[in-house]
Amino acid sequence: MKLLSASENDISLAAAALKQGGIVAFPTETVYGLGGDAFNVKALAKIFEAKQRPHFDPLIIHIAEINALERLVSMELLDKKAKTGFEKLTKTFWPGPLTLVLPKRPGLPGLANSGLPTVAVRFPANDIAQKLIKLSTGTIAAPSANPFGCLSPTRAEHVISMLGDKADFIVDSGRTGIGLESTVLDLSAEPFSLLRPGGISREQIEALVGPVEVNALNHENAPRSPGQLENHYAPRTPLYLHKPHELANMPLLLNQGRLYFSEKGGGNVSSGNAGERIRVLSKQGDLVEAAANFFDMLHELDMLGLELIRAEQAPEQGLGIAINDRLHRAAFKGD
Ligand code: TXA
Ligand code: MG
Repeated sequence: MKLLSASENDISLAAAALKQGGIVAFPTETVYGLGGDAFNVKALAKIFEAKQRPHFDPLIIHIAEINALERLVSMELLDKKAKTGFEKLTKTFWPGPLTLVLPKRPGLPGLANSGLPTVAVRFPANDIAQKLIKLSTGTIAAPSANPFGCLSPTRAEHVISMLGDKADFIVDSGRTGIGLESTVLDLSAEPFSLLRPGGISREQIEALVGPVEVNALNHENAPRSPGQLENHYAPRTPLYLHKPHELANMPLLLNQGRLYFSEKGGGNVSSGNAGERIRVLSKQGDLVEAAANFFDMLHELDMLGLELIRAEQAPEQGLGIAINDRLHRAAFKGD
């Protein structure tokens, strides 16, 4: 895997590779993605192979201009309510961390969306991602650039350590801004349903389109969005969850790590050698800062080879809901 910078030249090189069916890891405003041309079955197969991702888990297709939707989505299949919702949501949140599930247009290879009647589309708010998408084919399938089930990457280094040389290139632009994956909202059926909490909160969405269902499961009770699978986003080190403030009076044993939400929960004990094993998502308890640090700090703790990590939950509001969602999935479920 060749490491590239975010210079014009390097982005052109990466775009050329995408056009030829290569796969490229690149930054978005949420996490790093592993991209390939959505209409090139070989590129799609390489993505699944590199991530060891099961084929029932559909990919998000990334665009960098609204017109590209025509090649992916059958908008005419949306009713009036869904169309209006789509217009309001995209006007407010695109480009940005909101992925919309819409009726798929025939022509998109089934491998991209696991043969579903729908396709997930996202317009990332990141200059480098936008340039790369525009310079290549305009429709880039890109799951997070981590092996299936592992922590999502917020730095190029995470991609390198987790995927080795499986991508042709990786475009490095430092740490991503938001740090948690996009919100996934299904507009293809009513009521609209929130399949994955993320950068845009339920409240922000409901303010525009009214009440949405949360984590809806389909009639067979199977996950509709594999991001809903338990044991997703997990570190190698067993992670135990604790209620806010519960860790404050618990001794920190040797060979254990701590991930505090804020200093209020006891996260100011960074004294002596123990400090290395302690991370605080946000000293002041700021949710945006906490989300940005989340995967980054979990990667750091995971690298220390500890016996276990104890993590404090975030307040259950706004981005805190997305953080807690990832924490629940990362938590150790036993063998
Ligand atoms: O922030 C993000 O969304 C990042 C960056 C790279 O853009 N991408 C990302 O992709 O998180 P991935 O593949 O790790 O997660 C995509 C989620 C999965 O949970 C998948 O099951 C769901 O979106 N998804 C994709 N297509 C779907 C569909 N047609 N219906 C329901 N869920 C879908
Ligand atoms: Mg992922």
